[in-house]
Amino acid sequence: MKRWLVLCLICAGCAATEPIGFDGSTEHVYDRGAVAADHPLASEAGARMLRAGGNAVDAAVAASFCLSVVDPFSCGIGGGGFMVVWDPRTREAWALNYRETAPASMRPDTFATHEDPLASRYGALSVGVPGNVAGLLEALERWGTLDRATVLAPAIEHAADGFEVNAAYLSAVDWVRSVRARHARLQPMSQWVWDHLCGGGTIAVGDIVRQPGQAEVLRRIARSGAAAFYEGPVAEAIVDTIAAHGGDMSLDDLRGYAPVTAAALRSPLVFDRFTLLSMPPPSSGGIAMQQMLRMIDHRLGEVTDPSLDNPRWVHLVTETMKHAFADRATHLADGTFQPVPVERLLSRPYVVGRADAIDLDRTGRPADYGSTAPPPSDSGTSHLSVVDTDGMAVACTETINLSFGSLLAVPAYGIVLNDELDDFTARPGEANAFGLVQSSGNAPEAGKRPLSSMSPTIVLEEGRVRLVAGASGGPRIITGTMQVILNCLLLEMTPARAVAAARFHHQWLPDTLQFEERWTDHSLIESMEGRGHVVGRRRDVGVVQVVEVLPDGRKRAASDPRKGGRPAGH
Ligand code: GLY
Repeated sequence: MKRWLVLCLICAGCAATEPIGFDGSTEHVYDRGAVAADHPLASEAGARMLRAGGNAVDAAVAASFCLSVVDPFSCGIGGGGFMVVWDPRTREAWALNYRETAPASMRPDTFATHEDPLASRYGALSVGVPGNVAGLLEALERWGTLDRATVLAPAIEHAADGFEVNAAYLSAVDWVRSVRARHARLQPMSQWVWDHLCGGGTIAVGDIVRQPGQAEVLRRIARSGAAAFYEGPVAEAIVDTIAAHGGDMSLDDLRGYAPVTAAALRSPLVFDRFTLLSMPPPSSGGIAMQQMLRMIDHRLGEVTDPSLDNPRWVHLVTETMKHAFADRATHLADGTFQPVPVERLLSRPYVVGRADAIDLDRTGRPADYGSTAPPPSDSGTSHLSVVDTDGMAVACTETINLSFGSLLAVPAYGIVLNDELDDFTARPGEANAFGLVQSSGNAPEAGKRPLSSMSPTIVLEEGRVRLVAGASGGPRIITGTMQVILNCLLLEMTPARAVAAARFHHQWLPDTLQFEERWTDHSLIESMEGRGHVVGRRRDVGVVQVVEVLPDGRKRAASDPRKGGRPAGH
C-alpha cells in the first residue's frame, strides 16, 4: 500500500463507528436539532454548527463540505446537487438547483457519434461544470447565519488530518477496481484516483485518508468564496486536467456557472394531512414522488391493512412506480431547454386517471403506464436531512453520479470530477448507467442540466415540518425515499425502522420488480409473481436519511445502515 505522496494511508485499526443494525432498534432522538447524513463525521459537522448557534442551512452546508472529503466517491466539490429549504418564519419553501451543467462545447450528438461508448460514463467528456461550491455558498448567503470559515472548518480539518476508511468507502474502491479491470483503456485516466484515493487497491477499513490538496482548495474557498474555485489556479487546473484527457471545458464555462433558486414544488394535501415540498425539474424525483403518493392516496381505501407483508399493498406501490417512471422516461428534462408538462403530470384528473387504471390483481404491459407508449428504439450520490430547533429544515442531495464520478481527478487539488453528463440521453434509444431509458428532450446541449433522480423532500403536517427525507442510489433514490416516507407516515414505523426495512424497486423499464436481497418474505414475492410481475433481486434500493419531528418538537433521526451512516444532533 502507498502510505505517502498526496494521500497518506496509515493503518489505524477498525472504524470507530457504531453500526446501526438492520433491526431498526437504535433510535436517535435529539431535543433541539438533528442532522442525518450518510457518514457519521458529516452528521457531526452539521451538529457542530447547530451547537454553535447556526441554523439548518449552516448545518447542511457544513455537512455537505465535509462529505466532499469523507465520501469522495459519493459527492463533493467536483459535483452538484439539489437542496429544498423550508423557512418557518416566512413559510416559504425554496428549491436550490446547483446541478452540473454541460459545457459550451457539448452537442446533442457528442456522445452518440463518439467512437467510445463509455465516453459519457467515464473520463473527461463525461464531466459537467461542477455546481457544489456555488450552490452551497449561495445557500449560506441566502439563508445561513454563520461565516464561511466556520462552516468549512470541519471539512478542512478532516481533509488535512485524515479520516478512517469505512465499509462503504471500500465498496466504492471495489467498483473502481472492477471498472479498471474490465476496461484497461481507462487506467491512465483514473490512475490518480486509484493511487491516491484507493491506495492502489490495498486500502482497508480503518486506514486513514488525508487530502492536503482538497484542504487547500477548501481553505481558499473559506477565504475568498466561490471565485477561489471558479476562477484562478483551481479553475485553470480543472480545465487543464479535462483538456489533457480529451475533454473540452473552458474557463468561461466555470466562470459562468450559476445556481438557480426557485419555489419548491408544493403538493395538494396527501392522506388528508401532509404537504410535500420537493424539487422541480431537472429533478424527476419531485414530480415522481408527488404522483406516486397521490395515486396511492387515491386507491388506499381498497387496501385493508397496508403493510410490507401485504401483497396488495406492495403491488399498489409498485404500480405507481411504473406509472411515474414511464412519465419520467417520456416527459422529463431540464425545463429551461425543453417544455416539461409539470402542471399536466400533476393535475388531479391525470393523477386520478392513472391511479384508476391500476389493476390491483394484475400488472400490465409497459405500454399501459404513463401517458404514452414506450419511446421508440429510441452511486456516487449522498443525501442529508436537517431540522433545527426553530423548525427550519433542509433536504439536500448531492452527486458526482457513479462511484468516484468520472474516475478523473484534478491531481493538484484532489478534486474528483463528476460524470453527470451520463444522466443525459447520451445515445438515443440506449439506457444510461442506471438502466434508465430517457427521451430526446434530455439530449445533451450546451448549458443544459441533465435530468436527475435526486429527490430531496420535506413533508409538512398542518404547516409544520414532520419529515425530511431523501436518498442516494440513482433511480432507487425515488422509490427508496418514497417507501421510507410511506413507512413513517402510513405504516407508523419509527425512522430507524422505516429506513432499515427491506425495500423494492420498479422503474418501468426494464420491466422487473426488484426486491432487496434482505427481503425474506418469499410468499409475498410469489404473490407478486402470481400478479404477473417478473421478479429480480438486488443488494440495495437506495440509501435514505430521514429526520422526523415529534409532536413535542424533539427530532428523531436515522441514517441508513446500508452505508454505515449515523445521525447527530443536540
Ligand atoms: N446522478 C444521479 C442522479 O442525479 O439521478
